[in-house]
Amino acid sequence: MTHPSPNWSKLRADFPILDQKVHGKPLIYFDNAATSQKPRAVIDALVHYYEYDNANVHRGIHELSNRSTAAFEAARARAAKFINALSADEIVFTRGTTEGINLVASSWGAKNLKAGDVILLTEMEHHSNLVPWQLLAQRTGAKLAYVPVTGDEGLLDLTKLDSLLTKQVRLFAMVHISNSMGTVNPVADLCARARKLGITTLVDGAQSAGHSPVDVQAIGCDFFAFSGHKICGPTGIGVLWGRQELLDAMPPYQGGGEMILSVEYQKTEFKKAPHRFEAGTPDISGPIGLHAAMDYLDAIGRENIWQHDQELAHYAYEQLAALKNIRLFGPHPPLTPPGRGTEQGRAGLVSFLLKDVHAHDVVTLADQAGVALRGGHHCTQPLMHRLGVESTARASFYFYNTKAEVNRFVEVVKEIQKFFAQ
Ligand SMILES: Cc1ncc(COP(=O)(O)O)c(C=O)c1O
Repeated sequence: MTHPSPNWSKLRADFPILDQKVHGKPLIYFDNAATSQKPRAVIDALVHYYEYDNANVHRGIHELSNRSTAAFEAARARAAKFINALSADEIVFTRGTTEGINLVASSWGAKNLKAGDVILLTEMEHHSNLVPWQLLAQRTGAKLAYVPVTGDEGLLDLTKLDSLLTKQVRLFAMVHISNSMGTVNPVADLCARARKLGITTLVDGAQSAGHSPVDVQAIGCDFFAFSGHKICGPTGIGVLWGRQELLDAMPPYQGGGEMILSVEYQKTEFKKAPHRFEAGTPDISGPIGLHAAMDYLDAIGRENIWQHDQELAHYAYEQLAALKNIRLFGPHPPLTPPGRGTEQGRAGLVSFLLKDVHAHDVVTLADQAGVALRGGHHCTQPLMHRLGVESTARASFYFYNTKAEVNRFVEVVKEIQKFFAQ
């Protein structure tokens, strides 16, 4: 579906938090890769739920419980549509990307991996898509292998892929968009290559789901995980999508109420997916807020959001690249088309280091100027070590950010350089 060109400044007014000063300066929020801000529509959906509909789901027969259950399950159907899943039964609600990946590692991994098997990752994975596999490898005796990155330009070195896709590889888990370098990986191609060899695939969509159209069927992966809080939704809610036949064959992740058909003292019969994976009272307001967020984003059009964010990143990148004594990470622009999963490219963020200035100092001084950046290893410590750095400073954009904010940010970076040159 194509959408008309959005009125970006009108949309920005939907975000009450952006209208404030920080240290006496207008807030410029460039930490969107860590978490996004929430529009009034999402805040209102949460308030409405607690003011009118709050009750536990699935168990009650009374009106409020029916309403709550209907809203909870409507959010599941909405999430399926958001990523073009075949059915709502393929959507498991989680706490976020991290829990989704842990669920697959614990449940699918424990059933399908043994000593000597290989889990293939990439060198640019977030700790969320690395540590769960390390823990699984320790439990099963499986080994980890990594697709290398090329260096500062942050691309995957795909010339190495054929030799890495050995007979021992059972799972290939990869990030769609790198949170530290902005790299867009050609996940559809990577999954197709893995699938030909019978390898199961998982895509970490934490940085892609709210920024680009996502079609899990077109990507051709087996699992896809994302977080609500990065796509204008509440914290504490996320989605794990898995192919129905895989989810149905997986053992439960946690045990408790809600996930059972019947329980006896010595044994339990479990529900089918997705309920089998949702033990206990779930986060109910989370999916309801997430539903409002998905409606909000799709009314704008994620292809429009993608275009907007890429243009800001391109603009910021070109201006930073013109400075002296700066090291930039991640692929060079040009712009990448959204959502096809076949191109390598750059998404809406810039990651950089100023010569002789610690990234934390950049972030601290930028904060004094009202600009919220992120500095550190971005939960990709092995990648930082691979690049020979401890940390980078990162500005990450969303559709409510403006070119004027990028101009101010670049001015602030120049001021920081001057300050440290004294
Ligand atoms: C690429 C990537 N994967 C996974 C995560 C983890 O997401 P969450 O903390 O919402 O579970 C993040 C969060 O920054 C991320 O950027």
